[in-house]
Amino acid sequence: MEIGKASMPGREPEEPSPLVGFSHPPVFRLAWRPWALLRVAWTLGSSFVVECLVFGLAVVPAAAFWTPFFTRAYPSTVVRTAVVAMAFVPTYLIFAFFLMVLSAFAMRLLGWRTPPNAHLVIERLEWPLLDWVRYIISIHLVRLFAGSLLRATPLWTFYLRLNGARLGRGVYVNSLAVSDHNLLEFDDHVVIGDGVHLSGHTVERAVVKTAPVRLGRGVTIGIGSVVGIGVEAGPGAQVGALSLVPKFSRLEAGATYVGAPVRKIDKGSAEKARGTRPEGVTATTGGEPRAAATE
Ligand SMILES: CC(C)(COP(=O)(O)OP(=O)(O)OC[C@H]1O[C@@H](n2cnc3c(N)ncnc32)[C@H](O)[C@@H]1OP(=O)(O)O)[C@@H](O)C(=O)NCCC(=O)NCCS
Repeated sequence: MEIGKASMPGREPEEPSPLVGFSHPPVFRLAWRPWALLRVAWTLGSSFVVECLVFGLAVVPAAAFWTPFFTRAYPSTVVRTAVVAMAFVPTYLIFAFFLMVLSAFAMRLLGWRTPPNAHLVIERLEWPLLDWVRYIISIHLVRLFAGSLLRATPLWTFYLRLNGARLGRGVYVNSLAVSDHNLLEFDDHVVIGDGVHLSGHTVERAVVKTAPVRLGRGVTIGIGSVVGIGVEAGPGAQVGALSLVPKFSRLEAGATYVGAPVRKIDKGSAEKARGTRPEGVTATTGGEPRAAATE
């Protein structure tokens, strides 16, 4: 098999963000200074109030839909119980839809976002870090209450877009481990497989580092893969299942990458690799079965 390493010319930005402020790895220790404490209290308090408002408002249309099922006259208690029970799923869907819309609007209004290309020292508990925390809290709540039902549907794509992601047409995201939506740029027909971890942040030595992830037209990320920050993939690139794309990698247009860390595979490699396969597995083309027949 001819393999080549994913090129990584970008690596990490040379210039450290002004938020870094030190040259040695920091020791993780929370500085419980009064101002930091106040900032944390304000962050948690404001997040709590906003989420209560968002959830409360998201319940209103569902409650309005639900009310007639209670107030109408029914021929019997059995019929009423059955009708009310049947209304549960549509009511939850209405709630989930409004939760996505209102949460995204609240984040836009308040400007709670992941700051791009930043290094945020956790110990300092400064505002950019805390804004990121509030954004992540809102994303977490929406994926908990709406994501399990709606991921991989156009409605989930609609939510991601509303929440700051720049997505083309026909994008499907079948994973709930996709966050920092405002740092995601996916062109048309990108597909993110089940269980993919892809976000605009990583935490290293108690510093939150952020960078955008850009995927070109028709890129597919295979199930269970991890895509690092700052990754850019050219149109038609694909990443195999269970692969690791290191941060700031550049994936060539139309190429296929597999493994941890990923290596580019040559489409003609299967024949070359014949004889090095595990016992019982043969090279085939055109979707024929891979398991060799046993005599
Ligand atoms: C990566 C992938 C697209 C390659 O498919 P392909 O181009 O038809 O290539 P092949 O299946 O012929 O595999 C080519 C070689 O790569 C290896 N390979 C394929 N997928 C691999 C993976 N995920 N990890 C490691 N090696 C892999 C094969 O074993 C084969 O090696 P060989 O040459 O030694 O035989 C496919 O294997 C894959 O992982 N698809 C996942 C799709 C997915 O998850 N989509 C998400 C939505 S469901």
